Amino acid sequence: MLKESFGMSRDDVVVVTGASSGIGRATALLVGSFGLGVSAWDLDREGADAVVAEIVAGGGRGMAITVDVTDDDLVATGFAATNDELGVPRYLVNNAGPPSAIKLDFRDALQIAAGSVQRVTENWMALPLPASAAVVNVASVAGNLVGAAPDWYGSSKAAIAGYTRFLAITHAKRFRANAVAPGAVDTPRMADYLETEIGQAWRDSNPMGRIADPGEVASVICFLLSPAAAYVNGTLLPIDGGGTLRL
Ligand SMILES: NC(=O)c1ccc[n+]([C@@H]2O[C@H](COP(=O)([O-])OP(=O)(O)OC[C@H]3O[C@@H](n4cnc5c(N)ncnc54)[C@H](O)[C@@H]3O)[C@@H](O)[C@H]2O)c1
Repeated sequence: MLKESFGMSRDDVVVVTGASSGIGRATALLVGSFGLGVSAWDLDREGADAVVAEIVAGGGRGMAITVDVTDDDLVATGFAATNDELGVPRYLVNNAGPPSAIKLDFRDALQIAAGSVQRVTENWMALPLPASAAVVNVASVAGNLVGAAPDWYGSSKAAIAGYTRFLAITHAKRFRANAVAPGAVDTPRMADYLETEIGQAWRDSNPMGRIADPGEVASVICFLLSPAAAYVNGTLLPIDGGGTLRL
């Protein structure tokens, strides 16, 4: 079992935000295949239902909930429903976030992108968490390892990494907190960009000559949540094929 699930137990429950698409979807499906109870949160209910249907068809268990992570009441309701149906979530994946391609006011965007990670985490840590609980926040190479436009995107991702470090030094006796910093990942939001000349040049300049598959991010998220990473706390782990090593 350790080999297949990094030591996570089938009794465990995980909340994945933004679980309908891309990295969140791949993460939900992977932990679901490990047998954990998956609470799939998204604005897109149809997508979350489809993910849970796939988990259940594979013999796992899960539930889909419409949760906007920018909304206090919906987040509280999401945890209450998860608790009732699956139990207290030992694991949390803060993955949902707005795409960099949309126009947002800088201050609003920090609230939406970084503020939501704090909101969901605060609600989660108010629960009677089981031992060895863990949260993984999805940051980015943008703002953390490279400068990036628009202004709000990299800034909010740097804030998420900073918040992760705060959690790691403050709450380590209750849970571990880590972040991942993906480079370009092949998800729906990236499709148009990767068709452009700049997008193709970016992909080609990566030492591995390609962008990541969402599953390649999901497996790192699962590792960081799991007992296999029991002494990893406060790290920001790049998943970029070495892309940020290039000048
Ligand atoms: N794709 C990349 O290249 C890349 C690179 C680095 C970091 N990231 C980060 O990874 C995360 C996931 O990105 P992705 O590419 O898988 O995106 P995606 O667009 O494929 O999926 C994002 C999901 O989050 C949901 N969502 C958005 N706002 C929400 C909200 N307020 N409440 C609940 N759900 C919400 C969407 O409905 C969607 O299902 C984001 O935080 C993104 O910034 C992505």
